[in-house]
Amino acid sequence: MSDCNTRIIAPSMLASDWGQVAQEAARAEAAGGDWLHLDVMDGHFVDNISFGPQYVAAVRPHTAVTLDVHLMITRPDHYWPRFVKAKADRITVHVEADHDVATTLAAIRDAGCGCGLALSPDTPFSAVEPYLDQIDLLLVMTVRPGFGGQAFMEAETMPKVAAAKAEREARGLSYHIEVDGGIDAETAHVAAKHGANVMVAGTSLFKAPDMATAIREMREERG
Ligand code: DX5
Ligand code: ZN
Repeated sequence: MSDCNTRIIAPSMLASDWGQVAQEAARAEAAGGDWLHLDVMDGHFVDNISFGPQYVAAVRPHTAVTLDVHLMITRPDHYWPRFVKAKADRITVHVEADHDVATTLAAIRDAGCGCGLALSPDTPFSAVEPYLDQIDLLLVMTVRPGFGGQAFMEAETMPKVAAAKAEREARGLSYHIEVDGGIDAETAHVAAKHGANVMVAGTSLFKAPDMATAIREMREERG
């Protein structure tokens, strides 16, 4: 079991070659990816449509790593059971979505799945504070959700990562702090300095000349 001080690299399948789901999942694992990050978008919560539970089920047989499912959808309370059935290991829901957050988190946990809570760059840290003792992971979005390939929003998001770490320590909690969007070796270093330990990266890993090297560089602790 990884704890919240272990650096975890989670390649995001959004940036993979969708014509080769099985090979791309296996390639990310062979290159050293610790988890695979799967971005579900419903065309409503965000202005893009990606994939649903069948895609998660299609990836599952091709890798042994944790499937970290990020639901960018308006009704996570309605759809989460389908992702449990598809064998997701963790399901992360947005605090801004249209649901009773505490009820959804508890239901996901009761189903034996890890639960995460995400907040978008424009959402203040105070929005997630009431739920911190109910989660396995806090996802601080470092771009506006919806598309890969955007620039890391350092000024807007790093204070929230630092606050998440401070609160975790103050309250004796143990959730992972994940960052997602515009992450490469440089920005991973910035995020880690503020307290993030899970690095989600699409473009910088799947489009790298050598994914193993890119993952190794992202894992390096720097002074
Ligand atoms: C953005 C998604 C991300 C995306 C990151 O809405 O949540 O997971 O795949 O892509 P990059 O690493 O290209 O910014
Ligand atoms: Zn994501």
